[in-house]
Amino acid sequence: MHNSLFTPMKNLLPIFLAFLFLNLIACEPKKPAPEKDNLEGKAWWKEGVLYQIYPQSFKDTDGDGYGDFKGVIEKLDYLESLGITMVWMNPFFESPMVDNGYDVSDYRGINPRYGTMEDFQAMLDGMHARGIKFVLDVVVNHSSDQHDWFLQSRSSRDNPYRDYYHWWPAEKGTPPYRHSLFDPEGAWEYDSLTNAFYLHTFAEQQPDLNWENPKVRQEVYDIMKFWAEKGVDGFRMDAFQFASKDTTWPEFPEGHEKDFIKWYGMRPQLHEYLKEMYAEVIEPYGVFAVAEGAGSTFQDAHDLVDADRKELQMAYHFETVDLSRTPEGYDLADFKNVFSKWDSAFAEKGWISIFLSNHDNARMVNRFANPDPKFITPSTQLINTFLMSMRGTPFTYYGDEIGMTNIDMPTIEEYVDVEALGKYQAAKSSGQDMEEFMQILNYNSRENGRTPMQWDATLQAGFTTGTPWMRVNPNYTEINVSAQDQDPTSILNHFRKMTKVRKENPALVYGKYELVQKEHPDIYAFTRKGEGQNLMVILNFSKNSSSIKLDQLPTESNLIINNYSDVNVNDQDMSLNLKPYQALIFSFD
Ligand code: NOJ
Repeated sequence: MHNSLFTPMKNLLPIFLAFLFLNLIACEPKKPAPEKDNLEGKAWWKEGVLYQIYPQSFKDTDGDGYGDFKGVIEKLDYLESLGITMVWMNPFFESPMVDNGYDVSDYRGINPRYGTMEDFQAMLDGMHARGIKFVLDVVVNHSSDQHDWFLQSRSSRDNPYRDYYHWWPAEKGTPPYRHSLFDPEGAWEYDSLTNAFYLHTFAEQQPDLNWENPKVRQEVYDIMKFWAEKGVDGFRMDAFQFASKDTTWPEFPEGHEKDFIKWYGMRPQLHEYLKEMYAEVIEPYGVFAVAEGAGSTFQDAHDLVDADRKELQMAYHFETVDLSRTPEGYDLADFKNVFSKWDSAFAEKGWISIFLSNHDNARMVNRFANPDPKFITPSTQLINTFLMSMRGTPFTYYGDEIGMTNIDMPTIEEYVDVEALGKYQAAKSSGQDMEEFMQILNYNSRENGRTPMQWDATLQAGFTTGTPWMRVNPNYTEINVSAQDQDPTSILNHFRKMTKVRKENPALVYGKYELVQKEHPDIYAFTRKGEGQNLMVILNFSKNSSSIKLDQLPTESNLIINNYSDVNVNDQDMSLNLKPYQALIFSFD
């Protein structure tokens, strides 16, 4: 009796198991979710050091003057030698390149300038083999106007893709003026084909996608899944604050330029979209996401990265890079204030990235260190020490590990960047002093940060055998990887030391940050305490010597970092005399 009941069930078992297996395959993402991070606890993306590669300018292997994936593959050992653990690469997708790839015409296709999908896979595998995670740039506030979605959308008012973008029918009159970040004429563009205006927060060729349309959101998640299944480990969400907006709002009131985001983006639905994205992609694929922008208030920033809300893991704000936008530079007191303020905002919860340069900014050396040949080495070492000592994930921009500097471009003819050209037009038509404008542009333009990587002192800095897409900085004969590689006192080797020190001293990642002698005019000093360690970071931001009195002093045995060969300590009055741009880290009980 018992047996007869059991026998038919047993016969069905293989079928049942096969069914279960097929179902599991269908439901489970191909990439297994890695060990779950407790978002408020420890995580690889908190402990890592990220290196940003601007692919166009990193290393060219086929002589066309543009960097490529094979170039990155050639430099994988170099990346490993830096001690970095994550790479964020700017967009490399199919694109008409109006905004150097931030205008995507096919999110699954690779711009042949960079190579093929096989090359991409080889590069990714090469990184993974070296313990380096890969972060993909996701540009989905807008697409290119050459993307098939937009070509369809503009073709007729009843095209199924019409609602993929924001349209304003001309019979409603002219839309309320809206500022564009790149287009001096504003963010609405008239399209005679359907007698309507479309919205573009950036260039005219970058129409904003309509995130209110669930189909658009699903398209985005599908794109992210496509890349997650190829093995990418994280996403950087470009211009993400603008994804949710109220298109009917008028121009922001005068004097509110600083609150641009509040007026034009960060609508409450953004959080709903992020939660949806988290559930669809981030959690099931075990990937991480960092958003460009952190809203306009601390509350916004918190809400974006609060682990309980399940939206994002990290965000980055612009208050620190905004400190030094003119050749006058910045004030150390403001610098301390901004970093301390953001640290305290995230002291209990949340996580941010720490950076002072990227592809949207001029070089860190000119803006925050000192490019004078006499000071470039200690001052760049000091800034890199600082970036690796703060709470938050350090983001290093390619070339900052060797102290690459701004390039001198005093006349507008040399500029190719859509942002610089737009600003120039706007300044001209508003009657600004153009001499002064060019001085500021030359100091501050993001083209400064896009010159080819300086590998060695051979022609074109070893970047290409052809003609580089952008002029190599003439100082490549002095500032290059090869010149610094074997020199233990170089900027490069100090950087390597710092990634190691960060890895070996968890207090630098998780420890509590506390400012020491806030009012000191030259020295930025702070402690990091936690994980069973007490660390003191002392940075002399001045080109002159400066001293500070402390309760604890470095000794031979507790000194962890020093960018000079000695330390001038006075035990009598408990003071420390620091050389120009001297940077120290030491432990204490
Ligand atoms: C932010 C990117 O960092 C920048 O390079 C780009 O121009 C705009 N978003 C538009 O995508």
